[in-house]
Amino acid sequence: MSCCIRGAITIEENTKECIWQNTELMLDEIIKRNSLSVEDIISVVFTATRDIDAAYPAVVLRKMGITEASLICMQEMYVKGSLEMCIRVMVTINTDKSQKDMEHVYLKGAVVLRPDLVKKKSEAVAIDGPAGSGKSTVAKLIAKELDYIYADTGAMYRAVGLYCINNNINYADNKAVESVLDNIDISLVHSDGMQRIFLNGKDVTEEIRTPAVADGASKVAAIGSVRAMLVALQKKLAHENKVVMDGRDIGTNVIPDARVKIYLDASVDVRAKRRCHELDEKGIAYNYDAIAADISKRDEYDKNREINPLRIAEDAHVIDTSYMTIDEVKNTILNIIRG
Ligand code: DC
Repeated sequence: MSCCIRGAITIEENTKECIWQNTELMLDEIIKRNSLSVEDIISVVFTATRDIDAAYPAVVLRKMGITEASLICMQEMYVKGSLEMCIRVMVTINTDKSQKDMEHVYLKGAVVLRPDLVKKKSEAVAIDGPAGSGKSTVAKLIAKELDYIYADTGAMYRAVGLYCINNNINYADNKAVESVLDNIDISLVHSDGMQRIFLNGKDVTEEIRTPAVADGASKVAAIGSVRAMLVALQKKLAHENKVVMDGRDIGTNVIPDARVKIYLDASVDVRAKRRCHELDEKGIAYNYDAIAADISKRDEYDKNREINPLRIAEDAHVIDTSYMTIDEVKNTILNIIRG
């Protein structure tokens, strides 16, 4: 059976580099979001608005190894009021799935011309960002405001890290962690906008909040089988509930069709100072340099791991929270959701 996937992207400049770079980005997203391999592609039709003529977008197909598909590339007629600098694509693929399961891809403000073909988006709100960017504080407030469930996915990786620590499993050893995954049962309970997490029936919500567990979480989060297990749980949770879910790969991997994707960021210095402030309030002694170094190390690890690294989804709204209050961040996100 064959199905058709549509895509569109706007580009910044009518230059060869810009056309090719954005075409590749759009095709990559189509392939990724629909779990395709290049062999599945039967034909590709490109159209470009009249203001794009510096290069042929289809050249990118060869670069991506799509050499067997039949291909056509055309320039569109000028339509008053239509988007400028836009490349559209229609990819026909060989598949057992039905047309309604196809994920169409619209990037950088490109709009859907056939809304009837587009799957209804998930109602979820996805919030990603590095440690200390304010995700969990803000996500809880947003969930409360919308009357959604708040789902903290970092807690799940922390629970796996905690299991390893408690059972003397070297969490940096992939094989050792994989061999005990069947013994790990993680469940979540949501009430009053709060999440409690249970590891093999025991409530570990507080126990997972230590630097040692955070280090373990970061290491186990790079292991493919750990991610597969937890991402399946997260997808199920998002499918069965209205969620505000925070983590590192929520917009890019867990809920790619989330209604709103937010990426929160802040400088290392600001995030380290926030952490120091929290420790101050708890009366715990700290060393600023050690905290800042730890945050940088975790960033490095989360952004550079091979599987589902922390990155900004193409359609995410990026908010730098460094000099914003929590209320300002909350209101900015609510405006995006409601807008
Ligand atoms: O947000 P946190 O500090 O509780 O997360 C703990 C670790 O889990 C963090 O280092 C990265 C990892 N993580 C992840 O890889 N993917 C997620 N969706 C959430 C967290």
